[in-house]
Formats: sequence, structure tokens, C-alpha cells
Amino acid sequence: MEESKLRNLLESLTLKEKIGQLIQLSGEFYSDEEEIVTGPQEKLGISSEMIELSGSVLNVAGAKKTKEVQKNYLSKSRHKIPLLFMGDVVYGYKTVFPVPIGLGSTWNPDLVKNAYEVIAEEASAGGVDVTFAPMVDLVRDPRWGRVVEGISEDTYLTSTFSEAMVTGFQNDLNPMNSLASCVKHFVGYGAVEGGRDYNTVDMSERHLRQYHLPPYQAAVNADAKMVMTAFNTYDGVPISGNDFILKDILRDEWGFDGVIISDYAAIKELIDHGVAADNKEAAKKAIEASLDIDMKTNIYATQLEPLVENGEISERLIDESVWRILKLKNDLGLFENPYRSLSEEAEEEKLLTEDNRSLAREVVSESAILLQNNKNVLPLKEDENILLTGPYGDEKALIGFWAIYGENADVVTLKEGIEKVVEPDHFQFVKGTTISEDYAFLQDFGASKGKAQSFVMSDEEKESELKEAIRRGKEADTIILALGEHTLQSGEGGSRTNLELPKNQKDFLNEMVKLGKKTVLIIFSGRPLILTDEVEQVDAILQVWFPGTEGGNGIADLLFGKANPSGRVTMSFPYNVGQIPVYYNHYKTGRPLGTSTHTGRFVSKYLDSPNDPLYPFGYGLSYSDIVYEDLTLDKNKMQEDEEINVSVTVKNNSELKAKEVVQLYIQDIAGSVVRPVKELKAFKKVELAGNSSKKVHFKITLDDLKFYTKEMAYEAEAGNFNVFVGPNSKDVLQDGFELI
Ligand code: BGC
Repeated sequence: MEESKLRNLLESLTLKEKIGQLIQLSGEFYSDEEEIVTGPQEKLGISSEMIELSGSVLNVAGAKKTKEVQKNYLSKSRHKIPLLFMGDVVYGYKTVFPVPIGLGSTWNPDLVKNAYEVIAEEASAGGVDVTFAPMVDLVRDPRWGRVVEGISEDTYLTSTFSEAMVTGFQNDLNPMNSLASCVKHFVGYGAVEGGRDYNTVDMSERHLRQYHLPPYQAAVNADAKMVMTAFNTYDGVPISGNDFILKDILRDEWGFDGVIISDYAAIKELIDHGVAADNKEAAKKAIEASLDIDMKTNIYATQLEPLVENGEISERLIDESVWRILKLKNDLGLFENPYRSLSEEAEEEKLLTEDNRSLAREVVSESAILLQNNKNVLPLKEDENILLTGPYGDEKALIGFWAIYGENADVVTLKEGIEKVVEPDHFQFVKGTTISEDYAFLQDFGASKGKAQSFVMSDEEKESELKEAIRRGKEADTIILALGEHTLQSGEGGSRTNLELPKNQKDFLNEMVKLGKKTVLIIFSGRPLILTDEVEQVDAILQVWFPGTEGGNGIADLLFGKANPSGRVTMSFPYNVGQIPVYYNHYKTGRPLGTSTHTGRFVSKYLDSPNDPLYPFGYGLSYSDIVYEDLTLDKNKMQEDEEINVSVTVKNNSELKAKEVVQLYIQDIAGSVVRPVKELKAFKKVELAGNSSKKVHFKITLDDLKFYTKEMAYEAEAGNFNVFVGPNSKDVLQDGFELI
């Protein structure tokens, strides 16, 4: 629709109709009318009129259903403004890819962009217009369950994926295969104190700008159409009422003119936070902060009208929000075709296709991280006698917390994946033990509960399973232990303080390693777990996250060497819980361990634990022997308008072809404020044929050296810099230069 017509449309709306556009209700409001009035409507305290006027809907999907809802809605609508369907299509619709922490572990944003194009194509066929993704909160505390939805502890890496994901989803808003992207949760949510979900966040503006904002800015620069506010505070003010964050930074500094939506009920929570005395104050604070859509509360629906009528807020604020929403609907082409690409036939054809599955399989094999491979026990040979055991051996619940449209039934289990490769007389499976012996943490998970495994075994079953596992383990050459946390132990509300494997699984592992066989541990989890004991007990460890629909196939490709592991750590694996948060790019201290002039206990360290994590950022093995040589900088003095060309030779001294993630870090040796010990500035995932070598090139520009100085200017300061290049943040070659 032409912009002038859209303006006319806005002008023709009554105040109530305008407010309707600012309200988002969930699917239950679009089912049988009788049930609505007595159920959700009464609970939410919202009038039938407002339900009919509400402009968007949360988590209704499927071509048939969305078409029905849209048709019914439009039939009652005076102006025929289509309803917007928004949903949590986070890392898969029907073809579910690995959870985002696994996607980040690929260090391959191009591949992930392809995956997001596929996700958009599937979900848009199912009637979804807007996805609440990607989540680009910086994740540095694995106690926080939502790290499963994040990319990494590093700002640059997260920003790179942020751009790739938004671009993949949006696909220039092509009406046939795109989703508008709502980046979330703006901002700072990953820094909740103690890793406890929904808890306080308190950080300096410098820290906010340096580390937490850039991944969002990358999304906005990639033209993300929407932003979701986080539940947490910044500097004492919850984001949903925080005009500094939403207006000063997002709208004014970055020029974001898209739609801002609150997270679920977050406007009402301004009252629980204690920054609004009542619904009216909550509504006023949110709309004044330019928050456009109220997700799932009655605050805007009941408060905005009286606020305007009493002259407490200007109707202009409402008009501005409605304009942004109408523009989004227009950008999506909804006025021309309210159904976009949804079609039951297309849905049938586009979902879970062979191509989609094969891309998912490739992503699985790139997202897994080989953490240990003593004596090169991996890859396995097809004629070895293999016992697969453990609760994840034949488990279909591999799609994780937020794959709400995915089906466990479509998942290829690890057992199924391995069976396609090995002959039956070389392969045995025994479940051995359960995920947990106590499922109290499941509590009330509503709809997601059906997706969770919650087997228990009686004492007799436990004993006989263990016996059977041991008996067959004795006959095997290699034992694969498929262990991990429950899928619902991570995700929203999934904060934990004990990050070890569940006790029954640890006990089971202890028994199995006593057999003295080659042992491969495969870890399924939504966060880096503490694996400090297991590292000593097993030969190989493969971290596979929750790998999604093609999990079993992708892992089998790695186990048998059809694919060479190339995933790398994006969140340090802690040595123990007490170290958390532990991340590679920490600030320098006055008494650094190892280089301080102080000695003994009077340096920055623990008395009972190393400072370093178990596995550092960037770390991951392959089956190849890769060597880094000849780090070269083309100059050692750089003027502001110059670049430095960096090169390094990477050699693959093995027969197997490999993918290697070459990483470049910089350290600003002295600045006007304390700088981190190292910062990732560039990386390249390169392919190396067997017994080959490659020269890998990087450029360092002035932008790479900028930071928020003492005066809060984003600038580079003259002085000396170290440059590190290597396979991870720890094992690096080093050189340096001076910015003059
Ligand atoms: C979550 C969001 C999600 C929203 C809608 C909230 O509880 O924090 O990440 O997008 O629900 O389902």
C-alpha cells in the first residue's frame, strides 16, 4: 500500500481501534468464543471489543489454523487491517536445527544463515509473519538456563551471528519465504545476578555499550523489523519502562523506527519491580518509552484510552506506535495478501524436506565440539564392536526447550543414526540409566511438558539395566555413553546451581569406565556442564548440545569420520561452579596470576581452583593434526588511516580433510580505562584438504581498536597492541604493533 494511503488509514481509526493495534493476545483468544469469555478473557480482564480489535497474535501457527483465524478476524474488522502472526520460531519450525548455543559453536555464520532461510521458508508456509528471534543476549553465566538460546560470551562473535540470523530470516521480506525478525531480549538479560532468571541486572554504561549493545546494533543495522524488551532492569529501571534504553539509545542514537514489543507480561511487571504503583503508571511509563506492543497483559487495553482522554499522555504517542505497526504490516505485504505464503499444500511440500534435513544434518556435524580425543579413539571403525548406552542413546527429545512447533517424532535418535552405519552384529544398545531420578524440576511446564522425557526406573530395573550394560560392555571394544541434562533443565526458567551430570548418570559412568574399554562420552545439554571429573575418566568427549531433528545422523557422521569435527567453544566450560562467571575476555587486574610482582596468595586467584576454565573460548579438536606457523604483520607501526595485513600459515598434517576456525585476537596493552586481556576481532572457518596448508589473511583496521574511552568516546587510542592468532583463545602465536 502506498504510504499516503497508509496515513489515511491511520487517520481514519478511532482511538480504540488504534489501541487495538498495540495489543497482542495468544492463541487461546482465537478459539471457540464461548470458552474465551469464561476462560482467558476473564483471567486477563479484557473486553470482547478489545479482543476483536487486537492487532497481533502470539504463537498460533499452521497454515490451516492461521488462515482460519485471519479470515474470521478480517470478516469482523471494519478497516480490514490484517492480524500479524508472531511466534517463537527460534531455531526451527518443523525441521529443528541445533539449539542456538550449538549454532554459535559452528563458528559458521554463513551456514547458519542458510539454516535460517530454511526456517523462514517453513514457518512462513505455516502462516507465521514475525519470529521472536534471534536472542542475542551475551551469555557468560551457564547457571542461567537461557544460555541455550544464546550464541556466545563474546560480543563480536554474537554480533556476527546476529546479522546472519536476521538476514537469513528476513530474506528481504520476500512474501514467499521470509519472516520479520524480532531481536530479543533488549538488553542485558544475560547478566542477571547469580544466573537466576528474571533477576536484577546492574552494570556500568561503559560495560553495556562495550559488550551488550553491539549484537543488537548489528541486528538493527541488518534491518531487523522488531525488538523485544527484556524482563530485567538497567540502572534501576526495568527495560519496558526505560526511556534511556528504548528512546535515547535504540530510537534516537540508532535510528530504529521499527516495532518494539514487550516480553511476555513485562509491562505489568513494572508493578512487581516496584517502579509503577498501578496499571495506569505502568502503561504510561511503557508508552512514553515508545514501547509499541503489550504482549499478553490488559494494561494497554484498559489504560491507554483513559490516559489519552484525561490528557495525561498525548494521542500522538499512540499514533506513532500504530504507524510503526501498520508500516510493518505493509512491509510484509499483508494489505495485498493477508495470508502471505501460507498454504496447506505448500506447507506439506516445504516442511521437513530431504534438503532441509540434509542441511540440518550438516549443521549438527558442525555444531558439535570434540573436547577430548585421547589415543585418537575417534573416529570409530565400522567393524569395531560398539555398545551404545545411556539415557540419550535412543532418545527422541533432542529438540530443546524452544522448538515449540517441532515434533520429537521427527527426530533421528543417536541409535538410529548409528544403525545406518554399522552392521547389527557389531552394535548393541542398552539404555542403562535414566536422565534423572528426580523430576521435581519439571513442575508446571504447560504445553512443553509433553516433549520432555521423564522416565524413572524401579530399583530392580535399575539393577538389571546396569547389569546388562556391564555384560554387553565387556563384549564391546568401545563404549559410547550418551549422557546429559534434561531438555527442560535449560531454557526459560531453567536456572541451576549444580551444573554436573545428574548423580545417577555419574554413578553409571563410574561403573562403565571400570570395564577399561575405550570410552566415548557424548554430552547432550543446553549449557556448558561441569565435566571436570569426566575428563579424567573417559577417552573422548563430544559435546552435541540439543542437536534437533537430524541429531542422530549428524552425530553418527562425526563418530565414524564421515565428517571431521569443527565446532568450537563459544562459552567457556567452567572448571567448577564457583568460578562462574568465567570468560576469556575478562579485564586485566592489578595482580594478575602468573605475571604479578606480588607472590603467594596475594594475587588474583582462588585457593581451591584454577582461574582458567576447563575448556577455553574458541577451543575444539578435529581428527586432523593442525599446525599454525609464520604469523606475519606487514607493518609494526600503524597510522590511523592505515590497515595492518596479518597472515598465518595453517597446515593440515593428516590425511583427512578438515575445517579449521582460525581466530585473531587483539590486546590493547594500555588504555585510558582497563581493557580486556584479549578480544576476538576476526575469525575464518577454512577448509584444508588432507596434507595441505593454507595462508590465511586478516586485516586490522582502526575500527578494530576502538572502545569506550575514559571520556566515553568510541575511539582508538595510540599505543601498543598485541596480536594473537591461533586455534583458540589460549594457544596462540603472538606479535604486536604500535598505533601512532
Ligand atoms: C520469553 C520470550 C518469548 C515470549 C513469547 C517469553 O516468556 O521470554 O523469549 O519470545 O515469551 O513466547
